[in-house]
Amino acid sequence: MNDHREDEDYLLNGEERPETRADGEKLLDELGIFGVARRRFFEQGLAGGLGVFALQLLAKEKALAAVETAPDAVFAENAGLENAVRVSLKINGAAQSVEIDSRTALVDLLRENLGLTGTKKGCDQGQCGACTVIVDGRRVLSCLTLAARCEGKTVTTVEGLAKGDELHPVQAAFIKHDGFQCGYCTPGQICSAVALLDEAKNGEASAATKNLRATARDLKLSDEEIRERMSGNVCRCGAYPGIVAAIREVQAGRETAQYWQFATEEEIAAAMSAGEEERDAAV
Ligand code: FES
Ligand code: FES
Repeated sequence: MNDHREDEDYLLNGEERPETRADGEKLLDELGIFGVARRRFFEQGLAGGLGVFALQLLAKEKALAAVETAPDAVFAENAGLENAVRVSLKINGAAQSVEIDSRTALVDLLRENLGLTGTKKGCDQGQCGACTVIVDGRRVLSCLTLAARCEGKTVTTVEGLAKGDELHPVQAAFIKHDGFQCGYCTPGQICSAVALLDEAKNGEASAATKNLRATARDLKLSDEEIRERMSGNVCRCGAYPGIVAAIREVQAGRETAQYWQFATEEEIAAAMSAGEEERDAAV
């Protein structure tokens, strides 16, 4: 009736389950652990009353420890990586080939592996748009994009938009029209706007397009259309009027007046004295 023996029975008798032993042997074969190390592995596992899963962890730990202590060990790149895959892609014009965990999101590859911290991680679940980058000309949420799916693709981040000291027209327009405050959402807003302008050039419709049959290339976007097409990019600072004005200007291809300007010294002085008068009146 061995089939019905519980774990405690085995432990009390100083034995181990036959299936546990078999799994352990198989695992150690795969890991290349033999001799004394193999015997100690089973002694420890038995003494600790460990199950198969715990034995697997213990075996992995031992395998890694063996690699660390070998004086002439040759370390593979990212030896600690699980599910390692190599991904080759072009980022901001430069070819990159990196070994990553296959589960790595594009935003993490950019920020953590390549140090391109211009791309921001906000919600990390596809809600805010802060992580927007351009992949093969389309805007994508890099927090929801597996880096491994970008094999052979071209990625543009906010760092790749300017040409040397010359800002991309969208970047310059954001500054001119005060399209940001804290700036956290801005790289995503700018990448989104750059791709949006290409979508308009290609005549791609949006949910706000009035007549789908009449779409043509070089669409002239209304403010309503710009707002709809930028609706995936959230700005907690509420810089939306400036963002829309910036995109409108770049799309029009001609300079438009800033809707804001710094106050003059006279205006500041007048505002301060008005404030003082109000305070005096309230006392
Ligand atoms: S961080 Fe990707 S959508 Fe918010
Ligand atoms: S500028 Fe602060 S969140 Fe947009």
